Amino acid sequence: MHTLTDQQSTVGQDTFPIKGTDHIEFYVGNAKQAAHYYQTAFGFELVAYRGPETGVRDRASYVVQQDKIRLVLTSALGPDHEVAHHVHKHGDGVKVLALWVDNAEEAYYTALERGAESAFPVEKMEDEHGWIKTAAIKTYGETIHTFVERHAYHGPFMPGFVAKKSELEIVPAGLRYVDHCVGNVELGAMNKWVQFYQDVMGFKLLVTFDDKDISTEYTALMSKVVSNGNGYIKFPINEPAKGRKKSQIEEYLDFYRSAGVQHIAVATDDIIYTVNYLRKHGVDFLYVPDTYYETVSQRVGEIKEDLKELQRLNILIDRDEEGYLLQIFTKPVQDRPTVFYEIIQRAGARSFGKGNFQALFESIEREQALRGTL
Ligand code: FE2
Repeated sequence: MHTLTDQQSTVGQDTFPIKGTDHIEFYVGNAKQAAHYYQTAFGFELVAYRGPETGVRDRASYVVQQDKIRLVLTSALGPDHEVAHHVHKHGDGVKVLALWVDNAEEAYYTALERGAESAFPVEKMEDEHGWIKTAAIKTYGETIHTFVERHAYHGPFMPGFVAKKSELEIVPAGLRYVDHCVGNVELGAMNKWVQFYQDVMGFKLLVTFDDKDISTEYTALMSKVVSNGNGYIKFPINEPAKGRKKSQIEEYLDFYRSAGVQHIAVATDDIIYTVNYLRKHGVDFLYVPDTYYETVSQRVGEIKEDLKELQRLNILIDRDEEGYLLQIFTKPVQDRPTVFYEIIQRAGARSFGKGNFQALFESIEREQALRGTL
């Protein structure tokens, strides 16, 4: 993760330094099988484990990693357990968006001083590989941000976890790092959470989308994107907007039963390789009609990639003042229509694919109609 630290040192005036995304923890019904899915479908490698065999009696956690992306998949081992309750209510979903910091204690107390609510206090954990400090604050829904200080730790993940390898022969899918994580919040709550990130972590408002930008005949959404000082953390926050029928954000909120993480965008340097890989390994993507590609060249101009190949794989293209980007969205990765992934390759563009919202919305509505929730 050297590039993150190097660039960090050039950033001044950051009132809440964050070095990057440390990990994302999902609470799931069956962590063992989820770990298998992320290995075989997404090309993650199993790196660490904690559970009954390591002396933890109430839960099992699998850590899978691909380049800088680290996912933790956790299941409860009994019914009367925080993780079981979370899964009962929300289905499989993101519990923790963990942020990598130099000083967890300072981050935590600064956040509390600025109005954040504690999720758990500072904890120092140690084993033969060194020590780690963590502490956490609450954000939207039941999601939390854990601050992770790990400069004194050299083990596979955290104290309490043991290194674990799988017999599976995994070839990486080319996924490199978390580009952004999107939250869906209740109608009227978007500005409160944007303010929260501004007040508590000194995030800046990058961009605003309203229902004029993102709407179809039926549904609409409002979105604001906040970003931390060095730009490594980007959190778009969506809320539903009034449309003629149920919006995709409302559908999410109905099924997740609260605000929560809607999608995680992961970056690749070669989206054609990555999407070929993911499709071959069983990942389902949203469908984009061929008509999208009839006009896309006029909109985005010259690009390096073969348009035919992008069309065959259903990859979307957008351009801003700084360059272009390629992106594609998976279908939800669990039965509830909640969390999904975005695969993104940036060629200069730092935006989020506004030019694709229309096509995307129409595609999501086709899926909603199939589910009978439009
Ligand atoms: Fe996104």
